[in-house]
Amino acid sequence: MSALNIGIILGSTRQGRLSPQVGEWVKGIADQRGDAAYEIVDIADFKLPLLGEADASEQAGRWNDKLNALDGFVFIVAEYNHSITGALKNALDYAREAWNNKAAGIVSYGSVGGARAAEHLRGILGELSIADVRIHPALSLFTDFENGQTFKPAELHLTNVNGMLDQVVAWSGALKTLR
Ligand SMILES: Cc1cc2nc3c(=O)[nH]c(=O)nc-3n(C[C@H](O)[C@H](O)[C@H](O)COP(=O)(O)O)c2cc1C
Repeated sequence: MSALNIGIILGSTRQGRLSPQVGEWVKGIADQRGDAAYEIVDIADFKLPLLGEADASEQAGRWNDKLNALDGFVFIVAEYNHSITGALKNALDYAREAWNNKAAGIVSYGSVGGARAAEHLRGILGELSIADVRIHPALSLFTDFENGQTFKPAELHLTNVNGMLDQVVAWSGALKTLR
């Protein structure tokens, strides 16, 4: 079987966001494994307007093409008002079949590790037929970021990221046989 393509999706788009730091850290760990082709997928690059607000067939086409080329996902999830960002929800809403029968892991951050956003995301992933894995690295804005800004993850998260990736790679390979 050809190498699996796993997208590390940055789930926030605001200026000054922290998600690129977290995504690059996950990619650095993932790239050392040699078990899949990992890439950062930045929702901001796709300039998706709010769904239905404007004719966005070109942007939607590019977004779906990118998702179609991926076998699995790692969502980098910021917690906004106890849920995921509007930008991530909008990006999820922009595709359907391109999400189906694929696997995903979640890496979240927030005052309580982004746990509430991650649990909300799991409900949405079910509707999109994305199989979300159990192991969930949850990063604290207080202890894993200096001054809430500079990412300095505690050592213990490394084990969790690799455990999450083990599951994402296994399920992504298994689900590829369904598509
Ligand atoms: C609109 C908004 C709502 C937020 N609500 C929460 C929240 O409910 N719980 C939480 O832990 N952090 C909350 N935060 C803090 C964010 O988790 C923190 O700013 C984080 O850096 C956001 O991710 P980002 O930098 O990638 O955008 C909120 C931030 C914003 C901008």
